[in-house]
Amino acid sequence: MKASNEVIVVGGGIIGLAIAIELRLKGIGVTVLSRNYEEAATNAAAGMLAPRAEGLTGVMLELALASLYLYPEWIRKLEHVGGESAEYNPCGIIAPVKKAPQKPQEGNHSIWLDRNALECYQPGLSKEIVGAWWYPEEGQVAPRRLGKVLHQVAQRVGVDIKSGVEAIAFSREVGKIRGVLTKSGIFTADTYIVANGVWAGKLLPLPVTPVKGEMLSLKMPPSQPLNRVIFGENTYLVPKQDGTLIIGATSVNTWQEGNSAQGINELLQRAIQLYPPLAQWELLETWYGYRPNTPDGMPILGYGDAANLILATGHHRNGILLAPITAQLIAELVATGQQPEILKHFSYKRFHSPIVYATPVANTSHCQREEEEEDYLVIAGRKFRSRLLTGTGKYKSIEVMQKSVEASGCEIVTVAVRRVQAREKGHEGLAEALDWSKIWMLPNTAGCRTAEEAVRVARLGREMAKLLGQEDNNFVKLEVISDPKYLLPDPLGTLQAAEQLVKEGFAVLPYVNADPLLCKRLEEVGCVTVMPLGSPIGSGQGIRNLDNIRIIIEQASVPVIIDAGIGTPSDAALGMEMGADALLLNTAIACADNPVQMARAFRLATEAGRLAYKAGRIPVKSYAQPSSPTTGLVK
Ligand code: GLY
Repeated sequence: MKASNEVIVVGGGIIGLAIAIELRLKGIGVTVLSRNYEEAATNAAAGMLAPRAEGLTGVMLELALASLYLYPEWIRKLEHVGGESAEYNPCGIIAPVKKAPQKPQEGNHSIWLDRNALECYQPGLSKEIVGAWWYPEEGQVAPRRLGKVLHQVAQRVGVDIKSGVEAIAFSREVGKIRGVLTKSGIFTADTYIVANGVWAGKLLPLPVTPVKGEMLSLKMPPSQPLNRVIFGENTYLVPKQDGTLIIGATSVNTWQEGNSAQGINELLQRAIQLYPPLAQWELLETWYGYRPNTPDGMPILGYGDAANLILATGHHRNGILLAPITAQLIAELVATGQQPEILKHFSYKRFHSPIVYATPVANTSHCQREEEEEDYLVIAGRKFRSRLLTGTGKYKSIEVMQKSVEASGCEIVTVAVRRVQAREKGHEGLAEALDWSKIWMLPNTAGCRTAEEAVRVARLGREMAKLLGQEDNNFVKLEVISDPKYLLPDPLGTLQAAEQLVKEGFAVLPYVNADPLLCKRLEEVGCVTVMPLGSPIGSGQGIRNLDNIRIIIEQASVPVIIDAGIGTPSDAALGMEMGADALLLNTAIACADNPVQMARAFRLATEAGRLAYKAGRIPVKSYAQPSSPTTGLVK
């Protein structure tokens, strides 16, 4: 085998090229198959290096920080070989806010600037801005220049880049990849690395989907009034050394091509609101790209489903930032065959082999069981057999709650983060009360009146789930309820918080009024379910919004969970018969005379409703029709 054929990297964007160079430097032969560099997310990115400003947490933050700290040396090495600058600039990032935090939690990595201090760092921001977080360790690079440097270095170190070659499929034999089929023929190697961003979802059955980002640039006046990255709530401003200002970016789950008037309008409005002087600057360029997203917003790294297949995709908003660490880890994996410890968190298996939190359905025949076992509720790639979700509030005692949860057969229990934190009655001892190795926790933001509060509480919820051993639990039931009388969810606050939480890698399950347009919008911003209410929380009025919920079910491509208002098992059965994917209820069980019996009744009704939906009901007719045949009657 020719040396240059030892590894084939599919993808010639920043991730593919960075890996190829690292492999080459280890003496491994590499061919890169690059479909169309012009369309790579690399070419569209603004180039922020912003782990904390992006709100990353947990293992994702760990990975991102490791990459951030590799950046200076990585760039030095590339520029040395490539002979050009990639404009790496550790300029720090300013994240302005409109509402001051009550008690700023400063650390080494973030410093609170009040309005006066902010004025010294960056004058001219909108009057609405009360202060900002300053992230001194973060910065930026110029992705287009970096792309050029990577191409130069790759060529100099002997990477064989085949441009315009699109991978169509892998041919496989006994658990190994034998070759990659392209329109230019079959390419073969020992090892294959898939690093083609969002197109990985077309090549392999991976949950990598596009999040389109529209961008634009303006020409700054010669005085360069901006020289640090400004990371606003929905918009960022990234000043480049050549005097252009990049403004980004929209976020829409779509493959739709082109820049839309609405996208550019939104960007400009938000940018002008953030920094009014730019309204007068010359518009230079508009463009767009597709971020490769995954259900949890984290990349897919490590072995794929063949012995010689390695995956490095799904970097979503952080491809530029994560390039050095991705290259280092993947090259180490190829060279040693040993998977670096951190990669265990990024395996594709977290989507393909989910744990089934299930209890077998009792008293059913083998045949029926097989049929029902196929019928999972799938949320953010995680499978559940039960379609009934319950809560822990309002029970007379912990024991009754435990028995009721068991009788309900539910596998997802929602927990009010605030009430647990405040140790409210009935919420003490929750950690020990339920077996969290069998029950999936759904932290909820009950009690939050604004989007900001909900985002904060969601973050606490994620920590709470981790403490209970659910390391990879990124679920949050989002409730933003500003109205204390009817407890109706705030649609705008919910949408705003959902956008932020999706950005932070949460699997968001929003509780909303039964509004089909809002549900669609929430789905578009990346929520993993929609949870329309049947009627006001705890009212037991049943499903009052049948018509709207029907439309929501018809339109949704994420699970629809009817939440709140369900009073009786017949309400539950009705919801499921209509085609809802699941139900969430608490009061109807917790406050029944006999909660344990009622929990079992709801379990049966939910299962019956689901079976009936799948079985297909008879049409409703205006007139009677005899049950027995009318032909062949004795005359
Ligand atoms: N990294 C910023 C973005 O994807 O918009």
